[in-house]
Amino acid sequence: VAVTYIEHNGTEHKVDVDAHMNLMEGATLNMVPGVIGMCGGICSCSTCHCYIPPEWQGRIPEAAAGELGTLESVTHRKANSRLGCQITVTEEMQGLVVHLPADQG
Ligand code: FES
Repeated sequence: VAVTYIEHNGTEHKVDVDAHMNLMEGATLNMVPGVIGMCGGICSCSTCHCYIPPEWQGRIPEAAAGELGTLESVTHRKANSRLGCQITVTEEMQGLVVHLPADQG
Protein backbone atom coordinates (compact mmCIF):
# COMPACT_ATOMS: atom_id res chain seq x y z
CA VAL A 1 0.00 0.00 0.00
CA ALA A 2 1.61 3.26 -1.10
CA VAL A 3 1.83 5.77 1.72
CA THR A 4 3.49 9.17 1.52
CA TYR A 5 4.90 10.62 4.72
CA ILE A 6 5.68 14.33 4.53
CA GLU A 7 8.14 15.74 7.01
CA HIS A 8 7.56 19.12 8.62
CA ASN A 9 10.14 20.62 6.23
CA GLY A 10 8.23 19.33 3.22
CA THR A 11 10.44 16.36 2.41
CA GLU A 12 8.29 13.56 1.03
CA HIS A 13 8.86 9.85 1.58
CA LYS A 14 6.72 7.62 -0.61
CA VAL A 15 6.99 4.10 0.73
CA ASP A 16 5.22 0.78 0.45
CA VAL A 17 3.59 -0.40 3.67
CA ASP A 18 2.18 -3.89 4.04
CA ALA A 19 -1.51 -4.02 4.82
CA HIS A 20 -2.11 -4.91 8.50
CA MET A 21 0.94 -2.94 9.59
CA ASN A 22 0.33 0.35 11.31
CA LEU A 23 1.51 3.78 10.19
CA MET A 24 4.23 3.94 12.84
CA GLU A 25 5.68 0.60 11.71
CA GLY A 26 5.44 1.67 8.09
CA ALA A 27 7.49 4.77 8.83
CA THR A 28 10.11 3.26 11.10
CA LEU A 29 10.71 0.19 8.91
CA ASN A 30 11.27 2.51 5.96
CA MET A 31 13.58 4.84 7.91
CA VAL A 32 11.27 7.82 7.59
CA PRO A 33 12.73 10.55 9.83
CA GLY A 34 10.38 12.09 12.33
CA VAL A 35 8.60 8.98 13.57
CA ILE A 36 10.13 7.23 16.55
CA GLY A 37 7.66 4.72 17.97
CA MET A 38 9.43 4.43 21.28
CA CYS A 39 6.81 2.33 23.03
CA GLY A 40 6.61 -0.15 20.18
CA GLY A 41 3.04 0.71 19.35
CA ILE A 42 1.18 0.27 22.62
CA CYS A 43 -0.26 3.78 22.59
CA SER A 44 1.76 5.12 25.50
CA CYS A 45 4.67 7.20 24.17
CA SER A 46 3.06 9.42 21.50
CA THR A 47 6.32 9.55 19.49
CA CYS A 48 4.39 8.35 16.44
CA HIS A 49 2.34 11.55 16.36
CA CYS A 50 1.19 12.50 12.87
CA TYR A 51 -1.49 14.50 11.06
CA ILE A 52 -4.09 13.08 8.72
CA PRO A 53 -5.13 15.50 5.96
CA PRO A 54 -8.84 16.42 5.73
CA GLU A 55 -9.44 14.45 2.54
CA TRP A 56 -8.49 11.26 4.37
CA GLN A 57 -10.31 11.88 7.62
CA GLY A 58 -13.46 9.98 6.74
CA ARG A 59 -11.56 6.99 5.39
CA ILE A 60 -9.61 6.23 8.53
CA PRO A 61 -11.17 4.75 11.67
CA GLU A 62 -11.69 7.30 14.40
CA ALA A 63 -9.42 7.44 17.41
CA ALA A 64 -10.41 5.32 20.39
CA ALA A 65 -10.45 6.72 23.92
CA GLY A 66 -6.99 5.41 24.73
CA GLU A 67 -5.47 7.14 21.72
CA LEU A 68 -7.21 10.41 22.53
CA GLY A 69 -5.92 10.21 26.08
CA THR A 70 -2.32 9.77 24.94
CA LEU A 71 -2.70 12.56 22.38
CA GLU A 72 -3.51 14.97 25.18
CA SER A 73 0.14 15.08 26.14
CA VAL A 74 1.67 15.71 22.71
CA THR A 75 3.17 19.02 21.74
CA HIS A 76 2.13 20.45 18.36
CA ARG A 77 -1.29 18.87 18.72
CA LYS A 78 -3.83 19.84 16.06
CA ALA A 79 -7.42 18.89 15.36
CA ASN A 80 -6.21 16.24 12.92
CA SER A 81 -3.56 14.74 15.19
CA ARG A 82 -3.38 10.96 15.39
CA LEU A 83 -1.03 8.31 16.70
CA GLY A 84 0.42 6.37 13.80
CA CYS A 85 0.62 3.14 15.76
CA GLN A 86 -3.15 3.16 16.22
CA ILE A 87 -3.93 3.29 12.51
CA THR A 88 -3.75 -0.05 10.74
CA VAL A 89 -3.03 0.22 7.04
CA THR A 90 -5.57 -1.38 4.71
CA GLU A 91 -5.76 -1.71 0.92
CA GLU A 92 -8.35 1.10 0.95
CA MET A 93 -5.63 3.48 2.14
CA GLN A 94 -3.75 3.28 -1.17
CA GLY A 95 -2.19 6.73 -1.75
CA LEU A 96 -2.61 7.89 1.84
CA VAL A 97 -0.72 11.04 2.79
CA VAL A 98 0.51 11.52 6.36
CA HIS A 99 2.07 14.74 7.64
CA LEU A 100 4.62 14.72 10.42
CA PRO A 101 5.09 17.28 13.20
CA ALA A 102 8.19 19.44 13.62
CA ASP A 103 9.37 17.07 16.33
CA GLN A 104 8.05 14.38 18.64
CA GLY A 105 8.73 16.43 21.76
FE1 FES B 1 4.11 4.80 21.13
FE2 FES B 1 2.48 5.06 19.05
S1 FES B 1 4.42 4.16 19.10
S2 FES B 1 2.17 5.74 21.07
